[in-house]
Amino acid sequence: FSVSLISAPFSGGQGKLGTEYGAEEMLKFGLANQIEQMGYVVNQLSIEAPENLKPLSEPESGNIKNIQWVSNVCKELSSKVEQECRARSLAITLGGDHSLGIGSLDGSSKAYGDDLCVLWVDAHADINTFDTTESGNIHGCPVAVAYRIEKSPIFNWVQNNLRKDRLAYIGLRDIDREEMKILKDLNIKVFTMYHIDKYGISKVFDMAMEYMNPNLDRPIHLSFDIDCLDPIYAPSTGTPVRGGMTSREGHFLCEAISETGCLVAIDLVEVNPRIGDTDSLSITVEMGCSLIRCAIGESLL
Ligand code: ARG
Ligand code: MN
Ligand code: MN
Ligand code: MN
Repeated sequence: FSVSLISAPFSGGQGKLGTEYGAEEMLKFGLANQIEQMGYVVNQLSIEAPENLKPLSEPESGNIKNIQWVSNVCKELSSKVEQECRARSLAITLGGDHSLGIGSLDGSSKAYGDDLCVLWVDAHADINTFDTTESGNIHGCPVAVAYRIEKSPIFNWVQNNLRKDRLAYIGLRDIDREEMKILKDLNIKVFTMYHIDKYGISKVFDMAMEYMNPNLDRPIHLSFDIDCLDPIYAPSTGTPVRGGMTSREGHFLCEAISETGCLVAIDLVEVNPRIGDTDSLSITVEMGCSLIRCAIGESLL
C-alpha cells in the first residue's frame, strides 16, 4: 500500500499570496518521513510549476479571476491524481487553495468512476457558479465546476461523472445566499456546525456514510479545507470563520474515515503560511500534517 504526496503550489483561485507555500511547509515539517515511519511507501510528486501553466492572457470572464490559469493547473493536477489513483496509491493533494479540488476530484473520479463518494469538509460550501460568486475567486466555486453545475467551456475537459447523491458536506457555517439556493435546489446533503453541535461529530460521520456509502464498499475522496477548523486551531488560512470544528473533531473525522478502509484520495488545502506570526504558522502546518496522518491510519494505541 503506497501513498502519493502531490504538491500543488497554487494560489490563483483566490486573492491572497502565500497559500502556494502550504505544501512546501508541510513537507518541511517532515510529512513524507512521518508517513514512511508509519510503514508506507511514499511517492513524492509535484504538478508542473503553475507559473509555467499561466496563459499569456486571460479570456474575458467578468469578475472571475484567473479562469484559464485555474483551468490549466487543475487539468494538470487531474492527470496526476488520476495516474496515482489508477496505480492504487492513495493520492494526497497538498495545496494550494481549494480551486484545486476541481482537478483532484476530476482525477479520482476518472480513476474510480461514479462510485466515488466525496466528503467536503469546510467552513464554506464552495459551490458558487461563475454567475453567483461575489468575490470572483474560483476557490469559492470548485464543487460547482467539478459537478458540472457551472458549465463554463473553459472547463469542458472536466468529466461529468460525479454524483451529487454521493457528496456530503461537514462543518459548514458560512454559506452565501445564492449557494444556499443551489444546495437546496439540488438537494445536496449538508451537515453544518449546527449538526455537529446537536449530534456530535461521530453521529454526523455515521449519518454521512449511511447516506452515501451505507455498506462502506465505495471509494471515498476527502476534500479537507483547513478552515473547517476553528481559527484557534488553524489560524494561518485566508478565509477564517469563527465557530468552527475543534482539533479533536477534525481528528476524529479523519480517524473515522481511516477506519472505513475506503479512503482513496485526500486534499489538504488553504494552509497559508504567510498569514499570522510564526506560532500561527506552526500550529496550522502541524495540524495539517497531523490530520493527514490520522486519515491514513495513525493510531494512538
Ligand atoms: N463563499 C466565498 C466565496 O465564494 C468564500 C469561499 C471560501 N473558499 C475557500 N475555499 N476557503 O468567495
Ligand atoms: Mn473554506
Ligand atoms: Mn460569506
Ligand atoms: Mn474550501
